[in-house]
Amino acid sequence: MARPLVAEINLAALRHNYQLALSQSATASALAVVKADAYGHGAVKVALNLADLAPAFAVASIEEAEALVAAGITQPITLLEGFFDASELPIIFARSYQPLIHSQWQLDELTNYLAKHKLPAASLNVWLKVDTGMHRLGFPLEQAAHAYKQLNSLTAINLITLTSHFACADDLTNQATPKQLEQLKSLQQQLNCPISIANSPATLGWPAAQEGYLRPGIMLYGASPFAAGHNLGDQLKTVMTLKSQLISVRDLPAGESVGYGARFTTKKPTKIGVVACGYGDGYPRQAKDGTPLLVNGIKCHLAGRVSMDMLMVDLTNNPSAQVGDEVILWGENLSVNEVAGYCDTISYTLLTCLLPRVKRQYINDLTQVKE
Ligand SMILES: Cc1ncc(COP(=O)(O)O)c(C=O)c1O
Repeated sequence: MARPLVAEINLAALRHNYQLALSQSATASALAVVKADAYGHGAVKVALNLADLAPAFAVASIEEAEALVAAGITQPITLLEGFFDASELPIIFARSYQPLIHSQWQLDELTNYLAKHKLPAASLNVWLKVDTGMHRLGFPLEQAAHAYKQLNSLTAINLITLTSHFACADDLTNQATPKQLEQLKSLQQQLNCPISIANSPATLGWPAAQEGYLRPGIMLYGASPFAAGHNLGDQLKTVMTLKSQLISVRDLPAGESVGYGARFTTKKPTKIGVVACGYGDGYPRQAKDGTPLLVNGIKCHLAGRVSMDMLMVDLTNNPSAQVGDEVILWGENLSVNEVAGYCDTISYTLLTCLLPRVKRQYINDLTQVKE
């Protein structure tokens, strides 16, 4: 018998979530963000299972794009950080990857490259990133029109999509979002080109931003981008269920401590279970006592510090629990958002930090379906 920890990934739920994103787009254009190994879900499986729905994908690097192409993905792929070095330009042109151009140094490298290499006219679509307030990547608003003109003057460049990223779209009352949107739209009117700005929270919660290419990420994986309940966020279906088993159960009298640093001490006679899952799998070590887990479907609570390969659970709520019982760390009936809240983090980190030693087990996988 193998170590029982697996991440079960429901690809039918992924497709449902993608379709929910798509249904928010007036133009039915939503590229699927599959960077960071599709937020820990396996980029190749995810992309192949969205291949008949998504018109395009977005990743963070050429390496991530190359893995998709090697698996047979033929849709356009956007590189969300553009290129890191001019040496990447030959492959970008060869594969028609669509780089974001976010800085003057990239624009200069691209211009130099095209001065030295004769490439067919209108052979590459690019995205021009504009800083509308996030202050991470992008040309300052007042320089964006000039950057656009420089890009547009390069004959090898075809379509230029104006893009920006929201800093606060998950807060539905934050007025920074309409301000960012207004800035991008006024630039769009001036330059008359397509735009892309909506991440998951904007796709679900800011109708005015549902224009051009939507760029949903986290929502595809079934985690609501909102801290509170939300009509659309609550329609997302869980994609990843991280599950393991109890590998040991013991009864402790009151006053005994559990795990490293003796952080948890029993207040009464307590049944303690050991689960095969730890920080060496990506489960957060900062999880607090009381972090929920489902033992045979019953909510129980973390007891003591998470170890590298194991964690301990207080079985007070499930006194009949025994070795071999299923434990859900997050997923079906236990939202990753709820668990993240006990770990002072967000769903994004729990999902993307799940390590490769956790076997991904795919269900409803279109790539496995035989005719
Ligand atoms: C530029 C860009 N667009 C879209 C996304 C997707 O965001 P989310 O996962 O919140 O939908 C990200 C994620 O970090 C991003 O960096």
